[in-house]
Amino acid sequence: MTQKFLVYVPPHPLIKHWLAVARDVSTPWVLFRSAITELGRWLTYEAAREWLPTQEIVVKSPLADCVGTMIDAEVPVAVVPILRAGLGLLDGAQTLLPLAKVYHLGLVRNEETLQASCYLNKLPEKFAPETRVLITDPMLATGGSIMTAMEELTQRGVDPALTRIVCVVAAPPALQKLAAAYPGLTVYAATIDEIVNDQGYIVPGLGDAGDRIFGT
Ligand code: PRP
Ligand code: URA
Repeated sequence: MTQKFLVYVPPHPLIKHWLAVARDVSTPWVLFRSAITELGRWLTYEAAREWLPTQEIVVKSPLADCVGTMIDAEVPVAVVPILRAGLGLLDGAQTLLPLAKVYHLGLVRNEETLQASCYLNKLPEKFAPETRVLITDPMLATGGSIMTAMEELTQRGVDPALTRIVCVVAAPPALQKLAAAYPGLTVYAATIDEIVNDQGYIVPGLGDAGDRIFGT
């Protein structure tokens, strides 16, 4: 079966609402952080479809036995927040995936070259086969950071087809790089913005997501 690179922009009113709050330059940073948390929750809800492993069981209702579907807790699920800004999406993701292990990956862009470098890597040496991985990073701009993250993960045995990226704003340069390298990967975004400017910022975007989440 050929595997496709997919990008979903769920047409959900709560996602649209919190995106508009996050875009607004007059939104204070504490509310910006709440908006990103909400987006983490609703985008993770969407991303969990046909990704979170389930199993069928027999349930005894007060009247009869019937088939029920439950989360299969035997299959490992991991969340990988890309620091700093990916931490903003983590709380929302964790409320829906309470059993997921969290592996932090710290990446920062050089403001001149826009190259991403890694300053913290808490990934395991090897992920167990079949591990579902959810990466959180609000901004996919030039794609340097997310490509670095994907390289680190796939080197450790992660299957792109079992991986979901949850972001707020995705831009074409990042999506093109991911599509070329990782067929089978799926991205969930609140929006796709077409422009990345010469400074590497998405337009209209959100501005500097990390600074706005942490008030710096
Ligand atoms: C931001 C953002 C992404 C990256 C996207 O992080 O959170 O990780 O930029 O840009 P790219 O697609 O061009 O690589 P930043 O490096 O500003 O670090 P921060 O999260 O600590 O603010
Ligand atoms: N990182 C951000 O925080 N914002 C952008 O627009 C691009 C990268």
